[in-house]
Amino acid sequence: MPSLNLAIIGTGHVGLVTGTCFAEKGHRVICVDSDTSKIETLRQGGMPIYEPGLEELVRRNVAAGRLSFSTEIAPAVRVSEIIFICVGTPPTPTGQPDLSFVEAVSREIARNLDDSYRLIVEKSTVPVRTGEHVRRTLEKYAAKGVAFDVASNPEFLSEGTAVRDTLTPDRIVIGASSKRAEEKLRSLFETFNSPIIVTDINSAELIKHASNSFLAMKVSFINAVAAICEECGANVEEVARGMGMDKRIGRAFLRAGAGYGGFCFPKDVEAFVAVAESLGYQFDLLRQVQEVNVAQRERIVRKIDKELWVCKDKTVGLLGLSFKPDTDDVRESPALFIASTLIGKGARVRAYDPKAIDKARKAMPELTCCADAYEAAKGADCVVLMTEWEEFRRLDLDRLRTVMAHPTLIDCRNVFEPASVRALGFTYRSVGRP
Ligand code: UGA
Repeated sequence: MPSLNLAIIGTGHVGLVTGTCFAEKGHRVICVDSDTSKIETLRQGGMPIYEPGLEELVRRNVAAGRLSFSTEIAPAVRVSEIIFICVGTPPTPTGQPDLSFVEAVSREIARNLDDSYRLIVEKSTVPVRTGEHVRRTLEKYAAKGVAFDVASNPEFLSEGTAVRDTLTPDRIVIGASSKRAEEKLRSLFETFNSPIIVTDINSAELIKHASNSFLAMKVSFINAVAAICEECGANVEEVARGMGMDKRIGRAFLRAGAGYGGFCFPKDVEAFVAVAESLGYQFDLLRQVQEVNVAQRERIVRKIDKELWVCKDKTVGLLGLSFKPDTDDVRESPALFIASTLIGKGARVRAYDPKAIDKARKAMPELTCCADAYEAAKGADCVVLMTEWEEFRRLDLDRLRTVMAHPTLIDCRNVFEPASVRALGFTYRSVGRP
């Protein structure tokens, strides 16, 4: 297998995991980021994010001399055959993603291209047709006659399972406009034991937005079904199981809960609606997906209200702050929405999370952060489980009950069996289950 020289511009969740996994496959990788403190942390062996298995992989590949970190784009571009753009595309008030980082990086890459052929690959989640803009920007700012191609290679890794998702993805999408670009990326992915699909660049860009939006739709769909279950006494877990056994539907992403959060689904659904609108299509279906997601959080607040009657001066223990387990990411986390709503109603919120406490504290300084679940539950009128961390499945519920002022447990991720929790003396509410 040929060992390639790669530059990864943007060392966020996607860039860092992607770069590290390419190094693990034997390529030489320079990960670049303009955030000097992040690069310094990585150079000193620290990790800017929590992602299972990543730290060990970074350490191993740095030690082997295959992975390095830099704040400078120019030298990384000069020595690399393939340059991945992995910078952020944060939302703007219109819903359209902010592409200024992609544009700035494209200009900087252009200025450093020389006689040898380079492949510039967009991996950031971008609106359809961004590849065309990247190509035009490169042509405009590069010296005349340099040889390059632009390609799209969208990323499908999930936080918490990012290393596995990157090393063994369900599929690898290559959006290419030339045979040369396609072959180059095929050789890069040669040792990945995953199916490769080659498309034009626009289609590859759409695959990413359409995939995330579809998954978000599944989550909202099952949450809507859960709301119906709550009104008629049916069990959403049973409904999902029965639906999921149909291969055309599948079991994945049919877990009713607190609604989707994180940095990707909310931003990408919004962006896809805005992109569609700019192309003359009103994606009302996705607007509904968003509305159901907001309503799901509000339903949780109503459940808590119903149990506490008046929130003011009550104590609520909140278990889980990250938007999902196995990550310390609290961006767009339903847990933070619930915490701020309860605090706004005058409740005291005592919160615990196995990994996300530091990031949650920064995002919401008014939270009372606790060292474990039992401390969070101390004196609580109600405990609300917001994130299905493995640790919570193994809680000693007897002990939890004895430290609470009133044993009410609202399980927003359907972690526990209703009958066994009630048998312990709890008032127990979950999502879409009697
Ligand atoms: C998502 C996609 O799953 C990845 O394929 C994609 O690469 C990534 O976005 C991205 O665009 O970067 P991620 O945001 O890490 O990954 O997390 P997911 O596992 O997709 O979960 C998203 C949200 O949906 C979480 O809040 C989760 O709790 C919620 N969810 C998921 C449910 O409520 N029910 C489910 O059945 C599944």
